[in-house]
Amino acid sequence: MKLMLVGFGVVGQGLVEILRDKRAELESRYGFRAQVVAVATRSKGTLYHPDGLNLDWLLDAAQRGSLALYPPVDGVIRDEGILTLIRRVEADVLVEVSPTNLHTGQPALSYCLAAFDSGKHVVLANKGPVAVGYDELLEHAGQAGKLLRFEGTVMAGTPSIRLAMQALRGCVIAEARGILNGTTNYILTQMESGMSYADALAQAQQLGYAEADPAGDVDGWDAAGKLLILARALFNIPLKMDDLEVKGISGISLDDVKAAQAAGERWKLIARITPEGGSVGPVRVPLSSPLAAVSGATNAVTYVTDLLGEVTLVGSGAGRLQTGFGLLSDLLDIHERTG
Ligand code: HSE
Repeated sequence: MKLMLVGFGVVGQGLVEILRDKRAELESRYGFRAQVVAVATRSKGTLYHPDGLNLDWLLDAAQRGSLALYPPVDGVIRDEGILTLIRRVEADVLVEVSPTNLHTGQPALSYCLAAFDSGKHVVLANKGPVAVGYDELLEHAGQAGKLLRFEGTVMAGTPSIRLAMQALRGCVIAEARGILNGTTNYILTQMESGMSYADALAQAQQLGYAEADPAGDVDGWDAAGKLLILARALFNIPLKMDDLEVKGISGISLDDVKAAQAAGERWKLIARITPEGGSVGPVRVPLSSPLAAVSGATNAVTYVTDLLGEVTLVGSGAGRLQTGFGLLSDLLDIHERTG
């Protein structure tokens, strides 16, 4: 499977590390062999080699800050425009991991449409295009006869999307609620140990949990974007940001955290969606609630179903390898369906 990556930050590098380190295992267990033929970024340049890029060299160049530091080997093509490159690259799948824009989905949405139109499947960890351009994505995918997958957009690689869209088929899901942002849950957990909000946010950024602009995390927009995606995956309804009530955690002080602790409670940023609408906001949950035990960058979602009652999934919500795995699970799914 030939891959082109758009974006090469924490998540894209995580996927490439997994492909490098699990190469033999993926081949022997699933017959899956992947080659990264192109990487395109807006800040670090672009690279294309029709025979595949060397993953160690690629990671080394990115970690040193520029794809221009990739060795000057024969056949490597550099610094083309991203859309031009998407159209001309011979790849099976476009992996979209560029920074998220939850208002327009751009420029990633255009990249995804160009990928479908030039005959590629599309896999995203970038939430923007799925949250705001789902119909367009599906239309172009359908016209091209290609697949759209986005497991990594909600709860990193923890299979919240696959659980809802595949494993729970046959159930009616009436509601989803839970903790859908790793950064804020990490900050609230660290504040319980006395760390300041600013220090906890800085740590979340260092650990690769936060978005490029962490305001989207702390103000609740990241969790809200995930609700828009779940609204499609669960109910196939086209909700917009304006349909949601959204509040973040930036108003919560260390004193608020201590007051909750003294009352046997914990602050959690709770996201909830039904076919009628949804909300994101900080809630004091009692220690007896299962959500109180979800700490750090861990996330949780409960699906309320007609046949099974409540089904709760708990797992990583953010991170380099955790989100890289979400992409890998989609690539394996495409491999199995098309191989
Ligand atoms: N910034 C996001 C979070 C990354 O903290 O949950 C995973 O979507």
